[in-house]
Amino acid sequence: MLDAKGSGVYRPDEAIRYNPGVNKRELSPLDRLLAGADNALRTVAAPAGHSPRGNPASGIAESDLTTSQKSHSAGLMRVNHAGEIAAQALYQGHAAVARDKSIEEQMQRAADEEFDHLAWCEQRLEELGERPSRLAPVWYAGAFVIGAASGILGDKWSLGFIAETERQVCEHLDSHLDGLPEQDARSRAIVETMRDEEQEHGENAIAAGAAELPEPVKKLMRLTAKVMTNTAYWV
Ligand SMILES: [Fe+2]
Ligand SMILES: [Fe+2]
Repeated sequence: MLDAKGSGVYRPDEAIRYNPGVNKRELSPLDRLLAGADNALRTVAAPAGHSPRGNPASGIAESDLTTSQKSHSAGLMRVNHAGEIAAQALYQGHAAVARDKSIEEQMQRAADEEFDHLAWCEQRLEELGERPSRLAPVWYAGAFVIGAASGILGDKWSLGFIAETERQVCEHLDSHLDGLPEQDARSRAIVETMRDEEQEHGENAIAAGAAELPEPVKKLMRLTAKVMTNTAYWV
């Protein structure tokens, strides 16, 4: 049987992922709550598996990294993986309270791409012989509450929050591209693709009517991200 994108093995969870608008219209509030809980559990507790789009690192040869380079790459990819857990929760949180159907669908599409990012980071961590952050449930729960809370204020604020988040994520990924070992081409390919897509998510949010967030909120977001990135590098 064909999958949701027209090829390969059929997976019901992907059929839902790639037809969010169609499926969501038929869901009752209880169904949506259960679907949200299911997404949370799959994000933090189950392997992300393989992205239907393929991995940007496929076809790139593994490089010869020293032990310390490998451990530094793994630390940075663990931070990125934690960021993708948070991104998944943020978009799900926003989508859960979005008032406009087209904005809900836009957020669901971005969440699908974030899920691919999550799978790529997880695969790279495995290749580097390390594991994701043990605090994944904390990152997910915190980001879901922040996403839903900003969404309750209205779609323009929720979009503003996304635009600012993605802008800060791009800066952060740029710093990782500076910090990753030059020869770690597989990690770099993943981070470069993620960076381009995060920028697109931010531009889409601005085009959909994002409000500019007040400066103190931006500062608080930076501070929260710093705590998360500094912790996830090690734990
Ligand atoms: Fe992402
Ligand atoms: Fe993103």
